Amino acid sequence: MGQDVAQKILKEVRDLPPFSAIANRALKLTNDPKSSAIDISRVISYDPAFTARVLRMANSAYYGFARKVTTVSEAIVILGYETLKSVVLALTLQNFYDREIRGYGLEKGELWKHSVGCALASRLIASQVKYPNIEEAFIAGLLHDVGKVILNLFVRDELYQIIEIAGSQGLSFAEAEKKVLGFDHQDIGAKVANKWNFNEKIVEAIQYHHKPDRAKKDAELTAIVHIADFICLSLGLGVGSDGMLYPLKKEALDTLKLDEPEIDNIIFSAYNITEEIEKILA
Ligand SMILES: [Fe+2]
Ligand SMILES: [Fe+2]
Repeated sequence: MGQDVAQKILKEVRDLPPFSAIANRALKLTNDPKSSAIDISRVISYDPAFTARVLRMANSAYYGFARKVTTVSEAIVILGYETLKSVVLALTLQNFYDREIRGYGLEKGELWKHSVGCALASRLIASQVKYPNIEEAFIAGLLHDVGKVILNLFVRDELYQIIEIAGSQGLSFAEAEKKVLGFDHQDIGAKVANKWNFNEKIVEAIQYHHKPDRAKKDAELTAIVHIADFICLSLGLGVGSDGMLYPLKKEALDTLKLDEPEIDNIIFSAYNITEEIEKILA
């Protein structure tokens, strides 16, 4: 195990069956500074059901607009192009995430809800602490556990061993993964995000979301994702077997200059995140 397996997985990851042409297009759009509002409308309008979901997301309380967004062109004007891009990315990745993640004790769709929840919570924290790029926080939150999907697809047999030793030796999932495979879902997630051309700050946030004190390029972004992950787990979103061992790292709070009461406030503002996600995906 170790490097070889990680390399092999990386080679195959582009050709994953759920990786449709649309998902590829959405990824390209998200990472292309030259992409335009017309490009995004094209991706959205291919499918009316998809359009409806985009609009539901745009109307979510988490975007905080008083006016109802009813058309895609309006969504571009009201939400802004960057926000709409991240919403489209989230929804196109849904198929990819929306599977049963057995080894982690996650039922179908649970990791997806956890990821969207973490994206919305990251956005919430980012605006609270005045982080300069709110959409980057959304995307990092969305992708933080992408490595779990990959491991679930490629190392099924070892996953059972991972849960077993996590339970018997009282390890976190990331620690157990490292013991069995030589790498964990953070390592593989970061490599995949890099291959998908996400910027180095997003890659770093994926790489260190359980160890935010290791982040060097943008400690704030990693801290945001770590805290958002903690909040989602404390709200019971996608807990699986991983939620039991999730200490909130004090360094992350220090990085963002947040104290415990402020975290409680953020948790309070995020209390209906689960409901929102159900509405968006309905
Ligand atoms: Fe994780
Ligand atoms: Fe997570």
